[in-house]
Amino acid sequence: MPKTGDLVTDVDVAEGAEIGALGEPLTAGMPRRPDYITNPEDRPSVRREARPRFPFPIPNGWFIVAKSDEVAPGEVVPRFYFDRDLVLFRTTDGTPHVINAYCAHLGAHLAAGGRVEGDHIVCPFHGWCYDGESGRCVTIPYGSGKIPSQAKVRAYPTIERNRMVWAWFHLEGKPPFYDVPEVPEFDDPAFGDAYTVDFTLNTVCQEMAENNHDPAHFQFVHGTESIPDEDVLIDGTYKRVVGMDGRFTRETFGLGLGVLRVKEYVTFFSSTTPVDEEHVHVRWTFLAPVTNGPEAARAAADSFTSGLSQDIPIWENKRYVERPILIKDERTILDHREWCKQFYSDPSLAID
Ligand code: FES
Ligand SMILES: [Fe+2]
Repeated sequence: MPKTGDLVTDVDVAEGAEIGALGEPLTAGMPRRPDYITNPEDRPSVRREARPRFPFPIPNGWFIVAKSDEVAPGEVVPRFYFDRDLVLFRTTDGTPHVINAYCAHLGAHLAAGGRVEGDHIVCPFHGWCYDGESGRCVTIPYGSGKIPSQAKVRAYPTIERNRMVWAWFHLEGKPPFYDVPEVPEFDDPAFGDAYTVDFTLNTVCQEMAENNHDPAHFQFVHGTESIPDEDVLIDGTYKRVVGMDGRFTRETFGLGLGVLRVKEYVTFFSSTTPVDEEHVHVRWTFLAPVTNGPEAARAAADSFTSGLSQDIPIWENKRYVERPILIKDERTILDHREWCKQFYSDPSLAID
């Protein structure tokens, strides 16, 4: 067993992370290209067909829409996630809200001149005022003042946790059916400052997560072996995998949210937010023990993103094969696909 410092790390983390990797490399794998993370124009793009690559709608789940410090009290910011124009705003007392961007009256974009007044957001076009929690129009500042019952915009359940703002997306508008975990390392003095990297990829949550269940790709893409799962617990939307004699734990909370811990090395918190049906915005936050030095979280981030860069040419050019031809040991891929089904709604039931 190598020491922690010898880990060759690698991840595909929609749902946590892959750590491939122990001992001598088996093959060269795909090139490690950290520039693929920061410079999307460097990535190979060979696909020409315009047909959709994936048969999935946007999955239902909790997704990060901003780091907490990206929206100050009283601020209104536009976002594009879930294939929708959204508005994120923070009330003057500090509560964040996410709502659909377009005013129910005549369709002004609420982040194009809209402003926060107390608990509400005010449309720039005719001053209609909305409550961020319910999305209801609460004031029409002219005419009789009577508010039509249909005067509302879609509001997404919004929470703030682990220094991030999260919105609950459900294609049918149903309430949350799992929770975002608290990661205690954020407030643990034994851990140094969090280091976050974020980037956009041309793929979907399920495809990224599928790599964790595809043992052979570790050898061919990453040049390593996968870590044997010693202990796997699957409980509805939650999954936990323990390996390396208990030193490695990967917890998954829904499709796109994971916490990976390697004892004495790193706590790695990852979220993958659907931008639309073919793109995701990944945010990875690393926390390392202070005893490993001030650069430890950044070093872990570099290691994981370098591993991820090997997957990018595959992900961004492949298509999803619904009925893949697999060999016997690859049953895990089908099990993963089965588990993922709980996060999708029938697209015919979608609300705006
Ligand atoms: S379009 Fe928003 S108030 Fe008229
Ligand atoms: Fe991978």
